[in-house]
Amino acid sequence: MKITDTSDLWWKSAVIYCLDVETYLDSDGDGIGDFTGLARRIDYLADLGVTCLWLMPFYPTPDRDDGYDISDFYGVDPRLGSHGDVVEVIRTAHDRGMRVIVDLVVNHTSDAHPWFVSARRSRNSPYRDFYVWRDEPPRHQQPTVFPGEEATVWELDERSGQYFQHVFYKHQPDLNIANPRVRDEIAKTIGFWLALGVNGFRIDAVPFLIEPPEGVDLGDPHELLRDIKRFLQRRVGDAALLGEVNLPFAEQLDFFGGPRGGELDLQFDFVSMQALYLSLARSDPAPLADALRSRPVIPSEATWANFVRNHDELTLDKLSDAEREEVFEAFAPDEAQRVYGRGITRRLPPMLAGDPRRVRMVYSLMFSLPGTPVLFYGEEIGMGENPEITGRQAVRTPMQWSDERNGGFSTAPPSRLVAPPPSDGYAPAHVNVRQQRTDDDSLLLFIRRLIGRYRASPEIGWGSLEILDHDAAGVLAHAVDSELGRMILLHNFTDAPVALRLDIGAQEEGTRLIDLDRPERVPVGAERRIDVELPAYGHRWLRVSPPGDTRIG
Ligand code: NOJ
Repeated sequence: MKITDTSDLWWKSAVIYCLDVETYLDSDGDGIGDFTGLARRIDYLADLGVTCLWLMPFYPTPDRDDGYDISDFYGVDPRLGSHGDVVEVIRTAHDRGMRVIVDLVVNHTSDAHPWFVSARRSRNSPYRDFYVWRDEPPRHQQPTVFPGEEATVWELDERSGQYFQHVFYKHQPDLNIANPRVRDEIAKTIGFWLALGVNGFRIDAVPFLIEPPEGVDLGDPHELLRDIKRFLQRRVGDAALLGEVNLPFAEQLDFFGGPRGGELDLQFDFVSMQALYLSLARSDPAPLADALRSRPVIPSEATWANFVRNHDELTLDKLSDAEREEVFEAFAPDEAQRVYGRGITRRLPPMLAGDPRRVRMVYSLMFSLPGTPVLFYGEEIGMGENPEITGRQAVRTPMQWSDERNGGFSTAPPSRLVAPPPSDGYAPAHVNVRQQRTDDDSLLLFIRRLIGRYRASPEIGWGSLEILDHDAAGVLAHAVDSELGRMILLHNFTDAPVALRLDIGAQEEGTRLIDLDRPERVPVGAERRIDVELPAYGHRWLRVSPPGDTRIG
């Protein structure tokens, strides 16, 4: 594809920031974050360099799965604000050049949703077919997503004497996507939020969503995603779909719509994320390099969403048992830091023993990979989890704005907070925005500079990836290449300084390498080789600058 304007497909070089309104900033002192609070922090986010906000579910909910159990797709949780408050946030974000995407959770509803309340009241309910019912659970049942918390994916509804399907919690009955009325509601939900100004959706649990109910043949299940994408395009041409698809690469390609596209625009790269942790545990980039080499070629309009942490457990389900054990031992030695037998309930800095060099190396790497980086709130200041909270909730604590009471999140008595901040070395007294804002050496200002560098380097988002061979084990060297230019990116996974010699590939005579973080040029020696040094856990971003290049960095 010819690149004429990199803002056309904005999601290919965006900086996405995920937050939960409930834990961001409380404006009215009730202990719960709200839209009015978030509106006050839009300038902070714009200043950080974020170009797209991802708002986690903010819809009416009994809140038994952090809002992923929705009781009204068209509503706003009254604890967080009103539709008017949502629109104010969207408008302010747009005004500051930021887009807004929202969670679309339509694989299931809450059991408190009026559709389900009606559906379970009688087999004759007009909403009965909105859900998946069977007289007996199928013989071959899929395993539950939450082992230890749920035993099966079928629950008997005593009153009507039938079982309903729930891939997630039993209070989250699965919607029946074979029912055209359900599909219409999904389209209307998308249309509704688009009309309020959102720029796209993060679609929850996509493979489960498109899977037809057992025994029902709908033809190609991907038709649902193609339908959604076409609908979106008709309504708002440049709205984007970011999908949660934790599957092997080959299957992920299908969710982009195959090489020709037409389904998801972005997908999280779960495979490389998990390989990254194995590489960190071994101080060896080889597993990550292998994962990156096996990334399929995806449609030119689509991209990967690169992330190192999110609001869920750090899932390690794509590693072998032995590899998972290695990562567990390195980063979650305590059984209480693990969940579902597959994941870790911690944030990055505590896993890396707070070593700022290592933490920065990881973020530098995340921003240097082809794709769009996704930050989870608090990562920019190095927040830790609250080890006193069990399970996935441990990483869902309030944003730490200052060293004041409740980390400046809320003026409510601490007992009324939506979640308690950590009280260890990662407590707000030690980790907060106010302190880091004016400290040149802070993680916050490092991340801000990193975002600036990423935004000034659209070749990363648009580039193809090449893993470069060299002689220094312990260093990942990769290049990104497109008609916008070529960059070489180096990351040292070890705690020892290293010198390496690298072939930069065929280049024009007079080509130089510009280090984006330092004033000096890297000389290109005979046979197009460069000699570079990296400190322990060091990282360097080098732009290949042909003669006549007018870019400053
Ligand atoms: C994926 C979400 O990320 C997770 O938090 C949630 O529990 C499940 N989907 C169910 O909606």
